[in-house]
Amino acid sequence: MNKRTVADLSPAEMKGRRVLVRVDFNVPLGEGGTVSDDTRIRAALPTLQLLVKGGARVVLCSHLGRPKGGPDPKYSMAPVARRLQELLGKPVAFCPVVVGPEAEAATRALKDGDVLVLENTRFEKGEEKNDAALAAAMARLGDCYVNDAFGSAHRAHASTEGVAKLLRPAVAGLLMQKELDYLGGALDKPKRPFVAVLGGSKISGKIDVIDALLPKVDALLVGGAMACTFYKAMGFETGTSLVEPDRLEMAKALVERAGSTLILPHDATVAPAADQGAKAHAVKRDAIPATEAMLDIGPDTAASYARAIASAKTVVWNGPMGVFETAPFDAGTNAVAQAMAEATAKGCTTVVGGGDSAAAVEAAGLAAKMSHVSTGGGASLEFLEGKVLPGVAALDDRK
Ligand code: 3PG
Repeated sequence: MNKRTVADLSPAEMKGRRVLVRVDFNVPLGEGGTVSDDTRIRAALPTLQLLVKGGARVVLCSHLGRPKGGPDPKYSMAPVARRLQELLGKPVAFCPVVVGPEAEAATRALKDGDVLVLENTRFEKGEEKNDAALAAAMARLGDCYVNDAFGSAHRAHASTEGVAKLLRPAVAGLLMQKELDYLGGALDKPKRPFVAVLGGSKISGKIDVIDALLPKVDALLVGGAMACTFYKAMGFETGTSLVEPDRLEMAKALVERAGSTLILPHDATVAPAADQGAKAHAVKRDAIPATEAMLDIGPDTAASYARAIASAKTVVWNGPMGVFETAPFDAGTNAVAQAMAEATAKGCTTVVGGGDSAAAVEAAGLAAKMSHVSTGGGASLEFLEGKVLPGVAALDDRK
């Protein structure tokens, strides 16, 4: 990664300075407004601990959920600040506004090593519009800037992009660095064989990543309902499976262009509906019954994908192989997760994109057995598509 990081800051750039840190604390909240999954908060701890140790006055900002154009108590950052306090094991102050005199005063009251969490950045209308006045108001809350919010780096918002242009230094946090090193390392210098596993329901959301990965990988294994759009394009019966009729031409062209690098499932687990798991059965891909839907890759495909993963030196995975939230349609997804965990133990670099695949790996209890599980869903997908992430581009280059 060619960006300066928080580890490159000199003691003088940290101690006694207000460091505005953009984190991605967009976490799920459960009953009673408590944080139900704190993975993203834990992931930011190394950066925060480094700053606290260096005597910085840490000012944290993040969005939470998608509030519609103004403050909404349902999306307050207060529970997140409470969880952070528990994880850091030290007091964390909370400021009930995002910018303005009250927020400025709160940042000025901080002592060296103190931590303050600001209210949800999306309570300000200008956040998602990358409004210049809001970015300037945010810039008054820090003397320098750290972006550790990989999960939001694909958004050009006031707190991720606008403010990064106004404060110097503006550097990457340790989580941001780790994400870019793993994802970038896999794409730029993969140890071979390099296998990508792509799943999910729609080919339309994955076409750019398929295009970007095909020239780089040794094999691209496809799973999920998007396989059915390919099947349909190949002339197979797809029953009641999810198919994107407007993408059939695209799928056909892709199969022709990709040759043997693109590997489609050769069998499927089908059932009349996702809530009828008891009726699940495996069929060859050209034998999907007219009244049933493909809800997972079949067992033969799961075994052959596991073999391909076992012989790889680099594996990148994005998107589940089936309806992984409902057994038995989680079998293909679990087989991929298990094969990746075993490959990691044998020295393969395994990278799991954020979102559903990360959730599946968590649910299978295998997250700690991967080389890296990304905290960014949309961000990791855009990165794999080869897009420039605006939240990264705005940071200082390493000299
Ligand atoms: C995410 O959860 O993917 C990020 O926090 C970005 O959230 P958004 O899709 O609401 O911008």
